[in-house]
Amino acid sequence: MPLPKTLIPVLLAWMPLFVLASGQDGLPADYCRWERVDYSIVEPLCGLAGDAQRGSEIVSDSGRGNCLACHQLPIPGIEAYGTIGPPLAGVASRLSVPQIRLRVVDSRYLNPMSIMPGFYRDPRLINRPAKKYVGKTFLSAQQVEDVIAYLATLK
Ligand code: HEC
Repeated sequence: MPLPKTLIPVLLAWMPLFVLASGQDGLPADYCRWERVDYSIVEPLCGLAGDAQRGSEIVSDSGRGNCLACHQLPIPGIEAYGTIGPPLAGVASRLSVPQIRLRVVDSRYLNPMSIMPGFYRDPRLINRPAKKYVGKTFLSAQQVEDVIAYLATLK
């Protein structure tokens, strides 16, 4: 039996309740909320510890961080890099780890015009990403913490 037309608005009116009841606010279940304090994020994402070795692989991997598209990094053997962003050598002597964390998570909180991708931006704020990133962050929380652990070694 087809759905009576008069029922459709009734069902639509209940939609927000169905969404609330399923406990979803549009964020992926594994998205860890973070808190911005001044110009930084003090607590590691999801309380995770980063690994600098893995981080150094992520920053130079074009399928993951791809930081080299815009930044020079002091990694031996790398000749091609972008020059749109500042070189990251010595970044840990300019910025604290919590300050670096906010930049990698979502630099638009510091500069609304920033062209740097927010690697752990709230996915609801991302407009038309590639299919594999719909509803997802560009890097996982663990990958972001790994990248931060690596950047922290660049003194
Ligand atoms: C599309 C280009 C682009 C990509 C890709 C990019 N960045 Fe950036 N980044 C920038 C720009 C431009 C700035 C300068 C500040 C601003 O405009 O937000 C910046 C600033 C930074 C800063 C602050 C540096 C300082 O000395 O103040 C850090 C740290 C940083 N980026 C880390 C990263 C990491 C880590 C990645 C990869 C996971 C990355 N960026 C990917 C463009 C980019």
